[in-house]
Amino acid sequence: MNSLSAEEKHYIPDLNLNRERLENEALARLGVLGLDFQQLEKYKRVMDFGAGACFIERAAKLNGLTNITSVDKNPLPPALKGAGLNYIQAQGAELALPDESFDLILENRSGLYHSRDEMEASQILYELLRVLKTRGEIRVHPVTFGFVQKSLQDKFPKYGNAAAVLLAHRSLEEKRIMTELGLRANEMTMDFLKKLQSDFKFSASNERVKADSNLPKEQEEFLRIVKS
Ligand SMILES: C[S@@+](CC[C@H](N)C(=O)[O-])C[C@H]1O[C@@H](n2cnc3c(N)ncnc32)[C@H](O)[C@@H]1O
Repeated sequence: MNSLSAEEKHYIPDLNLNRERLENEALARLGVLGLDFQQLEKYKRVMDFGAGACFIERAAKLNGLTNITSVDKNPLPPALKGAGLNYIQAQGAELALPDESFDLILENRSGLYHSRDEMEASQILYELLRVLKTRGEIRVHPVTFGFVQKSLQDKFPKYGNAAAVLLAHRSLEEKRIMTELGLRANEMTMDFLKKLQSDFKFSASNERVKADSNLPKEQEEFLRIVKS
């Protein structure tokens, strides 16, 4: 993984959460994609791509939902073996799953966020679109793809320095830099997607998360991709 933010560097999933904390972790991840458990229920098959500790599937299961499949390039954490999860170990660029399998794909800081170059991001996107049903959706948060962020961080080292500081410890100046360049990175990601639309049929829009979220401005939107 490249250009890890402070949050990613400190990403140590706590696997043994009580129900309330597990649901909170899952709802936070669904919330930034404009979703909750009720909405999730409407989709027949949902993939959580780059699921990590599988917060969404585990909490959904507690709420009676069995329509989630967790996919990650890493093996299922040993502590989750025996939890009865629908877990598939697979690389985003090569999922080895049938075409048109899923109605909704969720991606929170996963393969696209960590993509190192245009080629990797396009391969992951094409593969996600292949396993997505026609008129199905991919929802991505944050909007910025990894290679775009990296190129801006190389150009503006202050952006990389600010990103390396944990959100709670950022100065006002660091927050300003993150917002200014983060919004630019979101736009550049949308421009990149426009280029791909000639090769593959989809629409892409950025949607507001929620007016009352406590997210920094550059993360107040998620990316919605619909296969046409
Ligand atoms: C920062 S963690 C986020 C995990 C989870 N989405 C969450 O919100 O808790 C990134 C996860 O994406 C997975 N990942 C990154 N690149 C991937 C790829 N190309 N294919 C599949 N999984 C990937 C990593 O193994 C890791 O579990």
